[in-house]
Amino acid sequence: MRRWQGDQIFFGGDYNPEQWPEETWAEDVDLMRRAGVNLVSVGIFSWALLEPAPGRYEFGWLDRVLDLLHAGGIGVDLATATASPPPWLARAHPETLPRRADGTVLWPGGRQAYCPSSPVFRDRSLALVEAIAGRYAEHPAVVMWHVSNELGCHNVHCYCDVSAEAFRTWLRDRYGDLDRLNAAWGTAFWTQRYGDWAEINPPRTAPTFANPTQQLDFLRFSSDEQRAQLRAEREVLRRLVRQPVTTNFMIGTGIKYLDYHSWAGDVDLVANDHYLTAADPRAHVNLALSADHTRGVAGGEPWLLMEHSTSAVNWQPRNVAKTPGQLRRNSLAHVARGADGVLFFQWRASRAGAEKFHSALVPHAGPDTKVFREVCQLGADLGALAEVRGSRVDADVAILFDYEAWWGVELDSHPSVDVTYSDRLAALHDALWRAGITADVVHPSTDLGRYRLVLAPTLYLVRDADADALRRFVEGGGTALVTYFSGVVDENDHIRLGGYPGAFRELLGVRTEEFFPLRAGERVRLDDGATADVWTEWLHPEGAEVLASYADGPLPGVAAVTRHAVGEGAAWYLGTRLDEAATDALVARLVAESGVRPAVPAAPGVEVVRRRDDERSWLFVINHTGDPARLSVSGVDLLTGARCDGELTVPAGEVAVIREDPAAAAA
Ligand code: GLA
Repeated sequence: MRRWQGDQIFFGGDYNPEQWPEETWAEDVDLMRRAGVNLVSVGIFSWALLEPAPGRYEFGWLDRVLDLLHAGGIGVDLATATASPPPWLARAHPETLPRRADGTVLWPGGRQAYCPSSPVFRDRSLALVEAIAGRYAEHPAVVMWHVSNELGCHNVHCYCDVSAEAFRTWLRDRYGDLDRLNAAWGTAFWTQRYGDWAEINPPRTAPTFANPTQQLDFLRFSSDEQRAQLRAEREVLRRLVRQPVTTNFMIGTGIKYLDYHSWAGDVDLVANDHYLTAADPRAHVNLALSADHTRGVAGGEPWLLMEHSTSAVNWQPRNVAKTPGQLRRNSLAHVARGADGVLFFQWRASRAGAEKFHSALVPHAGPDTKVFREVCQLGADLGALAEVRGSRVDADVAILFDYEAWWGVELDSHPSVDVTYSDRLAALHDALWRAGITADVVHPSTDLGRYRLVLAPTLYLVRDADADALRRFVEGGGTALVTYFSGVVDENDHIRLGGYPGAFRELLGVRTEEFFPLRAGERVRLDDGATADVWTEWLHPEGAEVLASYADGPLPGVAAVTRHAVGEGAAWYLGTRLDEAATDALVARLVAESGVRPAVPAAPGVEVVRRRDDERSWLFVINHTGDPARLSVSGVDLLTGARCDGELTVPAGEVAVIREDPAAAAA
């Protein structure tokens, strides 16, 4: 790992000077300095300009941009520029174009129109990386390298013949011989047995449900192919440059098909892009989930927010602008949750192209705007928070997250389409957020020893070793909650026999003999007054204590919530989809039993997160409500310089970052 933090929190965004006449560049640098910008990502979509014809490079404009930025004291996160190939590549090599499952070709004219397994794309892109890295390795402006851009955002699944061949190679590596593949894929079913590797294809559009393990392996393969591009570019960079290397992940924005937990070791720092879903009134809670997950991918280390937006985006049905103060709350919430840098897409709002209505640091209306004033305010805020960088976020709770479980649970022909992966994940994270409890979202293979409470929402697919680790965590005194449709299959998507929830049956002390999913809109009542929908199951306690049972619905009298004392700890099971109030009540019981406490108690809607290093601690207080928030805290607000002694008031919509007096830090 190469060190990436400097003496400031990074602040800036994507800078696309190639979209503007050169006269604009000097003004850009002036405005950047005014705003306190110290890092910009340059060249992300400039392949066609840097290499206008195969092998003919034109770097003059980029030389001038980097020199200008350096003269202005602005650092550069330099792109490898491979994010999207130039039109000449598809013309010379139409076989590099990606294809959908039904054979449709995806043509150039948008972006990322390349087959991720294409050897031609790989060669040409690496030649470009080699040329750029060779030229700018020693440029004093360059502080970081940015591989590609959001790898796999639009082209993660390609079903073309080149991809089919690469898929076969990947399968040979995984299984060695066809007998093992046939066993893993369960090809005795529907006469799918393969007698020759050449018979195997990606799961192209078929008359009916494709083999689920074939689908799962294709998803694994597709994530690995994108990762292979990252690794190939990184290898070139490692050889030629000394600065840290990263790429922007898309954690927590509904992007499902890139297994970032497996990619984290390929970058020197984890960087993430996050955009609010405008239609979601609780988008700031989803932001927290994304940040908590990014930190989990980063192994608890600080990470970089590579992109978010100053205001509206352009790609949602209704692109709602941010209200005054929202940009600041959003940005500082990321810092609270471990970001040591806050960057945006993009510096100056484009005049042309598909993203011309996307907000930027400098809007179309220019710097005399709410957005640019808030940008300058944020630059000053981040400057005042410099001492926080490098510190870690306090979290005693882990939520287990596995992309493969997500892929598995949402494959077709399952008991209910209403069982989705992110549903209970978000519900439990929300309940913790409301309780003021910070959680790390981590892969099930993470060492759980440092947590008191572990939640496993919808962990449908789980490996033996990971199920075992959860058992050891509970035996050692931890509290765990597993929710319905977990532990059902192994890594081949084969059912674990003997009753559900398979891998967790013994730990939970329950055995389910049959699932009873509910009809759309159907609700059941529990005997403790809670209501639930979507899912019920015929569950037998086998050692577990019953905490609540169904009062009606298809299974009156059957257990819905259970607790099993195991070793020094306890394993709780939730067999149905509780309403929000009941979820809050359940989480409150788990929190109480495990001894987890909020950083500092606060009113609903007031977000409080603590970061700490070996000597100091900082309390981030973000008031999302319309009323002033009062908390008992002592220390100095880094944003205002004001002291508080025992009582802190944060006005409606405002943020405070308190360096706590040492007594509190010892908590
Ligand atoms: C992504 C991309 C950017 C831009 C933004 C728009 O994050 O990386 O290039 O398209 O979305 O929101």
